[in-house]
Amino acid sequence: MTATDPRPLTTVRQFPPGFLWGAATAAYQIEGAAAEDGRTPSIWDTFSHTPGKVFQGHTGDVAVDHYHRYRDDVRMMADLGLSAYRFSVSWPRVQPTGRGPAVQKGLDFYRRLVDELLAAGIEPVATLYHWDLPQELETAGGWPERATAERFGAYAELVGEALGDRITRWSTLNEPWCTAFLGYGSGVHAPGRTDPVAALRAAHHLNLGHGLAAQALRSAHPGRAEVSLSLNLHEIRPLTASAEDREAARRIDAVGNRVFLGPILDGGYPADLLADTASLTDWAFVRDGDTTTIGRPLDWLGINYYTPTVVSAVTSGMAKPQDDGHGASEHSPWPGADDVAFHQAPGDRTAMGWAVDPDGLYALLTRVSTRHPGLPLLITENGAAYEDEVGADGSVHDPDRIAYVHGHLAAVHRAIADGADVRGYFLWSLMDNFEWAYGYEKRFGAVHVDYASLARTPKSSAHWYARVADANALVDPVEG
Ligand code: FCB
Repeated sequence: MTATDPRPLTTVRQFPPGFLWGAATAAYQIEGAAAEDGRTPSIWDTFSHTPGKVFQGHTGDVAVDHYHRYRDDVRMMADLGLSAYRFSVSWPRVQPTGRGPAVQKGLDFYRRLVDELLAAGIEPVATLYHWDLPQELETAGGWPERATAERFGAYAELVGEALGDRITRWSTLNEPWCTAFLGYGSGVHAPGRTDPVAALRAAHHLNLGHGLAAQALRSAHPGRAEVSLSLNLHEIRPLTASAEDREAARRIDAVGNRVFLGPILDGGYPADLLADTASLTDWAFVRDGDTTTIGRPLDWLGINYYTPTVVSAVTSGMAKPQDDGHGASEHSPWPGADDVAFHQAPGDRTAMGWAVDPDGLYALLTRVSTRHPGLPLLITENGAAYEDEVGADGSVHDPDRIAYVHGHLAAVHRAIADGADVRGYFLWSLMDNFEWAYGYEKRFGAVHVDYASLARTPKSSAHWYARVADANALVDPVEG
């Protein structure tokens, strides 16, 4: 570069050796084959087939047909230079009805998938539960019932025994906050119940299910399984520094974060959460010994982050309910926090309406790592939906997604430099897929899927991400 060269200076942010460059998906969002090889309905099959629950009645019946196209999908991941792939195992595919022996055909699918990944040099990271509870277990009471946690432990044993020789890193649950509070509180997710007490009971039984599943995975292959779960930790900001707004932030932190972090990492449920929810329940469903089961040390912690949460106290004249970014409902997903209002964070928004805010990820990572030194962290989800357009030549140019991921990776790099032990990053998502209540309307993929032909086309962001993974570094300025 000469003195007159107009090009900006290049900055290179190198990541630690061995940093995992991954992408993530979930069974119901991609597999399809909903009634094949013995699979029975999950709560998401029931919910998506219920009129009015999902955008334009979309379902995961076919999804992106990954069940049949997994070989090509793994080849695509290899072409993109991914070093890890996070997927979830469908409970009703391997243990229909949630009880009894495993269906070998279901397990065989995951054996083949994992073998393909290993042969391609891609580390499989498996999640046991990404929201697809066997419908029969919901009919029997679902997560508000203790029996579901026990069933989950037994299912973990089946999967651990079948796949534990091939998989090291496991996540028991994906975002139990969404399962408990969107599934049983606001009802925007399956099974669509709207009962705050059921939501709190579900939260505890998810915690217990995590503890039981972690034990089962570890005993299936002693010394090998590295177990965690993936939490969508809320990065909470009070709207102002007033005592009322800080109190609102404390309440949301209790029922949004510490309801899981407390028993899993801090030895029990926080006293302020029990006090906030005392008019709803006495928490008698927590039995002696549960917190010991739940609190056995994690090998790593999975963090999913998309956008921060801005809260205030409700002031007079303020309309309620406000949009908290988790889907419109008359029922709150925040038990014990009725007097809290939600606000849009400033700045650019994604197609979900979520503010783009990489500083939120930095703050979250540094706070967790300061509080829990020595706990390795993985970003198990981060990414963005945009209204992608397919060009005349079939290509998809998505500079907004590149900017989003670039900004968040820079935040991860900064957190690592400041001491956070972050071992990897999983982009949500590998490819466009069934985005829950939004159906196929919202596209999060680095790879575009044409829903008529199911053809996959890597977007510019996929090519850009491949270069980042290859260099193990982020280069400024971004070249889309
Ligand atoms: C997370 C979910 C994932 C996907 C992204 C956008 O909450 O875990 O399945 O829907 O949001």
